[in-house]
Amino acid sequence: MKFFIDTANLDQIREANDMGILDGVTTNPSLMAKEGIKGHDAIMKHYVDICEIVDGDISAEVVSTDFEGIIEEGKKLAALHKNIIVKVPMIKEGVKAIKWFTDNGIKTNCTLVFSAGQAILAAKAGAKYVSPFIGRIDDSGWDGVQLIEQIAHIYNVQGFKTEVLAASIRSANHIIRCAEVGADVCTCPLEPILALLKHPLTDIGLAKFLEDAKKFQ
Ligand code: E4P
Repeated sequence: MKFFIDTANLDQIREANDMGILDGVTTNPSLMAKEGIKGHDAIMKHYVDICEIVDGDISAEVVSTDFEGIIEEGKKLAALHKNIIVKVPMIKEGVKAIKWFTDNGIKTNCTLVFSAGQAILAAKAGAKYVSPFIGRIDDSGWDGVQLIEQIAHIYNVQGFKTEVLAASIRSANHIIRCAEVGADVCTCPLEPILALLKHPLTDIGLAKFLEDAKKFQ
């Protein structure tokens, strides 16, 4: 399973990348706004800055909702760097645009996916990634990980090449469960990634080893 970090914060991207476990980055307009990135030129520069830190797929989201607008924006984003993946919302015009991008050699991530039916459409259109938002599904009283399992099963049975990118991750347990049910990628904020490191017995065991090591110094 690949690990992406879900943030536009350059320090957090560097920290995860320095651990050597990062395969890519996902961003969205809310994450860019959170970092105070405003205006077309600043946004474009920020994507390039991210591409220069991480050598992997970097999702950059369009904000148009009509076919022509999505295509125009997506072409500009894709031209920024070879690793840019154009992130397109799961709407009718978005599906049509994903098909156009696929036919024209531009890779896409279909975002805002909340059902298996939407995931089938994204795969049919040729998206490289499909992004089911599991945390938001959990928030609404359903089981997000179950949706990852269902989509992974459908793609496997049907031979779809689209990768299942579990998004809207809230915890280390989400990451572990997504790995169990066959997600191809997890995109997570830094905190759940760091939470994977934690176990009290590791801390207790290390403290004891270090204490005993002093006896031989
Ligand atoms: C996915 O690519 C989105 O950027 C993200 O995972 C959404 O997460 P949220 O539900 O925490 O906003």
